Amino acid sequence: MERNKLCWCGSGKKYKKCHLAIDNEIARHADQGEIVPTRDILKSIPQIEQIRKSADLNTAVLDHVAAHIRPGMNTEEIDRLVYDFTVSHGGIPAPLNYQGFPKSVCTSVNNEVCHGIPDENIILEDGDIVNVDVSTILNGYYADASRMFLIGNVSKRARRLVDVTAECVELGLAQAKPWNHLGDIADAINTHAQANGYSVVEEIGGHGVGLAFHEEPWVSYVAPKGSEMLLVPGMIFTIEPMVNEGGPDFFIDEDNGWTVYTEDDGLSAQVEYMVLITEDGAEVLSK
Ligand code: MF3
Ligand code: CO
Repeated sequence: MERNKLCWCGSGKKYKKCHLAIDNEIARHADQGEIVPTRDILKSIPQIEQIRKSADLNTAVLDHVAAHIRPGMNTEEIDRLVYDFTVSHGGIPAPLNYQGFPKSVCTSVNNEVCHGIPDENIILEDGDIVNVDVSTILNGYYADASRMFLIGNVSKRARRLVDVTAECVELGLAQAKPWNHLGDIADAINTHAQANGYSVVEEIGGHGVGLAFHEEPWVSYVAPKGSEMLLVPGMIFTIEPMVNEGGPDFFIDEDNGWTVYTEDDGLSAQVEYMVLITEDGAEVLSK
């Protein structure tokens, strides 16, 4: 890009006073053989503004679920809460009809790793742990985050898994800053999970998000420190490890084609933050 033209990012500054330095730094890393983000992975300031609005609605949907979730509720009721709240605030639930997904939210209970389908016959019972994964489209911009909920009195064993999973995501977030790598986030997560006797699912990862539901890069949570894509301001992606109390293996429901279960029937937990890499760190857009 020409040095004296306005920067592509929408800052209103000249390119030479804005992204030129960042682009040179990216090029330097690329020359060393690293995986670096292409321009289309980096969001412009106007895009970030729109994505932030979608993320705020996404967080509000999660807050709405948090205010209403209770023992005895079936997961279809959670689906209705998500659909009604999202639509009444001008949004669209991103999962609905996504690659044939039949509902507005994923609800994954106990040994379900992810992509659980809300169902009136799945009733939240005392002692259950459930992940509610909410994804929102607002004015064409996408957001994605999930929380764990403890239903009634939950065993110490299940609570520890949920607590450690939340800690994993915070430790990953602490590594989310410019010129680190996605592998630094993964290593922080995987190391903490393993130190607690848990395992991290390998084949299902996180993703870029914002202009589409699932964008580049694909994000591993078992990659080694220093590996994978370079982190650059303007990247938006999810930190969403699935942590199993037993082994990392899983299988997919043959009948519905979606729900992922642990192979060994152990418990699984997941927490998902949607993060923006900023000039000096990361901002959580939705959690
Ligand atoms: N929110 C899930 C994710 O993190 C969405 C899975 S696709 C769906 O990518 F259709 F199941 F919603
Ligand atoms: Co996601």
